[in-house]
Amino acid sequence: MTEKEFISNHSYAEKETGEVRAKCSSNIALIKYWGKYNPQLPANSSISYTLTDSFTETVLKFEKSEKLSVKVYLEDVFQEKFSHRIEEYFRSIKAYVPFIDQYSYIIHTRNTFPHSSGIASSASGFGAVAQCLMDMSGLLGEENTEEYKLTKASFLARLGSGSACRSLYKGLVVWGKHLEIPGSSDLYAIPFPFEVSPVFKKMQDTILLIHEGRKEMSSTVGHELMKNHPYAEARFAEAHKNLSDLSKILQNGDLESFGRIVEHEALTLHAMIMTSNPAFILMKPATLAVIDKLWKFRKETRTHLYFTLDAGANIHLLYPEEEKGLILNFIKNDLLKYTENGNSIQDKALF
Ligand code: PMV
Repeated sequence: MTEKEFISNHSYAEKETGEVRAKCSSNIALIKYWGKYNPQLPANSSISYTLTDSFTETVLKFEKSEKLSVKVYLEDVFQEKFSHRIEEYFRSIKAYVPFIDQYSYIIHTRNTFPHSSGIASSASGFGAVAQCLMDMSGLLGEENTEEYKLTKASFLARLGSGSACRSLYKGLVVWGKHLEIPGSSDLYAIPFPFEVSPVFKKMQDTILLIHEGRKEMSSTVGHELMKNHPYAEARFAEAHKNLSDLSKILQNGDLESFGRIVEHEALTLHAMIMTSNPAFILMKPATLAVIDKLWKFRKETRTHLYFTLDAGANIHLLYPEEEKGLILNFIKNDLLKYTENGNSIQDKALF
């Protein structure tokens, strides 16, 4: 679909007030999106697992108003910064949601994962808001197929936060045009279109909270720093190749190759962050200690335990459900001590 197909020419019903609600999961990228160009289009294609238990629930109340205004509450506490961000976002999507500036909005949102966990709530948060807007369009009389509604929700979520567009679907999700992935687009995400090997269908994710609290570098800054980055072109080309390879691996079930690419992607993301100008080091000594332990454990036990990282210090441990017993023991006995407060989050990607 093209951008034009998301521009709305509907005439909407008059409705004074209403309420919609949505639930949207967070996601963890295997091939990372890092670098973009305007308006929020990715420099390379990416793929992620949508998490099952880490999600945002949002209730959006709207009321006819002379002037657009947004008030966001996170767990009933007013959020001034988020309110401004969402208001600005709403203004920016008027071409696609023409009624947006005829209402004032009160948004109540809560995450199942702790606020201090460092898990980005922007993906699940914007995903849920975009779904709410599509439901609101429906209440105002716009009729669409379920498929179009989901695609447009993904399109709208992307304009809020790039990786959010992947959160609209379960399982493995691709965002960004890739010639070997039919249907892929820079404008919205799609479910990974090939049959996935059963080993990759029940992947476990334990998130070790090495560092709780706010991220030290926003992804907006990170994407910007890729603009004059000396290794940017090589990175984008490699990401493209890594997605080609990973696509085949996900179909043929080769766990070792999966781990090699996923860990390489995580380390490359941090290599880009460390070699940008200004430079950032987002890993903590404990992040490296965990990686070292994990590599040793894997060598000794021949289990399929792999890690990935977001733009932060926390570690996502990925492993197949069949190996859960041994690996959870290892995490409890040898890795939890590296977390800031003994905290981890247990999640999984289900299809
Ligand atoms: O969607 P953003 O702008 O927060 O960027 C997300 C970037 C990473 O989480 C580091 C990678 C990704 O693909 O999710």
